[in-house]
Amino acid sequence: METNVPEYTFLTFPDPPADRPYVIVNMVSSVDGRVTVEGTERGLGSPRDQRLMRELRVHADIALNGAGTLRASGTSSRLGDPALEELRVARGKSRTPIATVLSRTGDLPLDRAFFTARDFDAMVYLSDAASADRAQAIEGTGRRVVRVPAGDEMGGMLRHMRSDLDARLLLVEGGPTINGQLFELGCVDEFFLTLGGVVVNGNELKPPVQSKREPSIAALTHLELISAVPNGETNEVYLRYRVTRGD
Ligand SMILES: NC(=O)c1ccc[n+]([C@@H]2O[C@H](COP(=O)([O-])OP(=O)(O)OC[C@H]3O[C@@H](n4cnc5c(N)ncnc54)[C@H](OP(=O)(O)O)[C@@H]3O)[C@@H](O)[C@H]2O)c1
Repeated sequence: METNVPEYTFLTFPDPPADRPYVIVNMVSSVDGRVTVEGTERGLGSPRDQRLMRELRVHADIALNGAGTLRASGTSSRLGDPALEELRVARGKSRTPIATVLSRTGDLPLDRAFFTARDFDAMVYLSDAASADRAQAIEGTGRRVVRVPAGDEMGGMLRHMRSDLDARLLLVEGGPTINGQLFELGCVDEFFLTLGGVVVNGNELKPPVQSKREPSIAALTHLELISAVPNGETNEVYLRYRVTRGD
């Protein structure tokens, strides 16, 4: 199998719309369409896949995870390589994207690096539905809390990112629930999917994108394939899609 690993630091992205950042989603999946094994994504992607995720972070103003992913895996916006940070700085950006998490309950693991580390900036988008006590506890870690309207958390968060933080590119790093809502709202512009050369099998099915809505042929999200690069060394395929929206 041919090996031709892509280099994501050179990618370019279109300008964002006025009311939200340009949104790219990045996930790794097994060939049988699962994104977790033993409760996290560990074991699905190779170091090369993880490097590509960090190369995407070079472009991002903000990296977003759902609270479920923070609880399961811990999250950060680190690039893990000073050369990648230098690339950001040379392009006029901060050394790392702002790491963000969206939560409705505010029930977050405050001892994780997301809250305790100081080598990257981080903040929490917290639903108005969460109690003031939870908000206070999070703020007690030194991380900023931005309240978003109950029932329109995703919309409120995206508007805040664009208008208050001037974010042009948002990198969404899962999990499936967050991805599902963004697809449902029509707010995903590109989808990066690494297909790992493994089959998970088993009862529990967590696909890359998941929501409670009833799917239909009429409501399929159509994707244009921008690139598909096989890696014979890791047995992965790196896929990049653009959401077409009938254009
Ligand atoms: N393979 C991969 O590439 C990959 C990538 C990322 C994650 N994962 C895996 O995916 C799993 C987690 O996925 P998940 O779908 O369960 O969780 P998730 O998408 O990471 O987070 C879901 C949580 O986000 C919050 N949330 C969702 N919608 C919201 C809204 N509209 N307003 C406010 N808060 C909202 C809620 O947090 P609260 O409950 O706090 O209210 C909800 O429980 C983990 O096992 C992780 O390891 C895999």
